[in-house]
This record gives sequence, C-alpha cells and structure tokens, in this order.
Amino acid sequence: MAEAELNSREKRWSLKGMTAVVTGGTRGIGHAIVEELAGFEVAVHTCSRNQKELDQCLQEWKNKGFKVTGSVCDVSHRDQREKLMRTVSSIFNGKLNILVNNAGTTIAKDAVEQSPEDISFLMGTNFESSYHLCQLSHPLLKASGNGSIVNISSIASIVAVPQSAIYAASKGA
Ligand SMILES: NC(=O)c1ccc[n+]([C@@H]2O[C@H](COP(=O)([O-])OP(=O)(O)OC[C@H]3O[C@@H](n4cnc5c(N)ncnc54)[C@H](OP(=O)(O)O)[C@@H]3O)[C@@H](O)[C@H]2O)c1
Repeated sequence: MAEAELNSREKRWSLKGMTAVVTGGTRGIGHAIVEELAGFEVAVHTCSRNQKELDQCLQEWKNKGFKVTGSVCDVSHRDQREKLMRTVSSIFNGKLNILVNNAGTTIAKDAVEQSPEDISFLMGTNFESSYHLCQLSHPLLKASGNGSIVNISSIASIVAVPQSAIYAASKGA
C-alpha cells in the first residue's frame, strides 16, 4: 500500500485527541473501556459513586500515562447527571466525541417479588440515566462535529434470564 494512502487511513481510523465520557469506569467492563480508549490516546472522563475507588483508579491511570479524569456521580440522580455533564463540558471545552453509557446494575429477584422501589431504581439507573445523558451530551457531541453514543445493553434483553425481568426491560429499553 502506498505510504500516503496508509497515512490517510491511519488518520481516518485514529481516535487520537478525541474526548470520551465512560460512566461506571472504576470496575468491570467500564474500567476496560476507559483503559482501551485511553490507550488510543483519547482523553477520558469517568465517574462512579465511590470517591476512594475512583481516586485509586485515577492514580493507576496516571501512572500508566493515560489522560483520564473523573468525578463522583450517581447516574441514577438527575441533578448529579447534570453536574457531571457541566464538569465534562468544562474539562473538554464544550466538545465531546464519545459517550459510553456503561454504568448499570441489577437486583436478582423473581418477577413477582420486585418492589415498586426496585422497578424505579433499576429503570432509573439503567434506562433513564442513559437517556438523559444522551440528551445532556447532545450539544457537546454536535459541537465536536464527530459524535458517537455507545449504550451497553445485555443479552438479557433478548434471551430469558431468571430473576432478571426488570433488568431485561431496562436493558432492552
Ligand atoms: N458483567 C456482565 O456479564 C454483563 C453482561 C451484559 C451487560 N452488562 C452491562 O455492562 C455494564 C457494566 O457491567 P459490569 O459487570 O462491568 O459492572 P460492575 O463490575 O458492577 O461495575 C459497574 C461500574 O459502574 C459503577 N456504577 C454502578 N452504579 C452506578 C451509578 N448509579 N452511578 C455511577 N456509577 C455506577 C460502579 O461503581 P460504583 O458501584 O462505585 O458506583 C462500577 O464502576 C452494565 O451496564 C451491565 O448491565 C454486564
């Protein structure tokens, strides 16, 4: 392949210098997404509910040379989501390339045992938070001229999994 064509491809497929928000980045899948994006030289902002764990992760990422910032946010609360996106806008100068709605949870119970609070909690954390963060991110994604949203769903939304009726509904949504 000619060198000019190779350079052009590398430029088109590069994430270098882009900005991303990954919710729930201190453990599990979110942690891996933060590291993967940061490894591609993306500036990442992440959040979780636990300041101590977040600070530990931020220190580890700093030691690895990654550009990752973080703030405490419980994504199930509307006002905290608004605060998160104000912080993100300030750090990334109003421009965002990637939103990853990863933070999510479940309560394993038989369908008939799930309480009204369980329904509100799971729909609020898994569905409403993602929807609202998409809305809040919209102006920033548009301003970047190159915005993408990734919602982490689940196989549970299409295959029956015991004790996961509300989780399945929230992930399908
Ligand atoms: N693991 C699986 O097999 C699997 C399969 C399919 C889909 N998924 C989906 O993938 C996503 C990640 O799953 P995981 O297994 O990696 O989860 P995990 O290991 O439990 O990690 C969840 C992360 O999200 C954060 N988090 C949870 N609730 C939050 C909230 N209300 N506000 C802010 N941060 C919150 C947690 O930190 P704090 O608790 O400190 O806030 C943690 O950093 C979820 O959406 C899950 O539904 C997982």
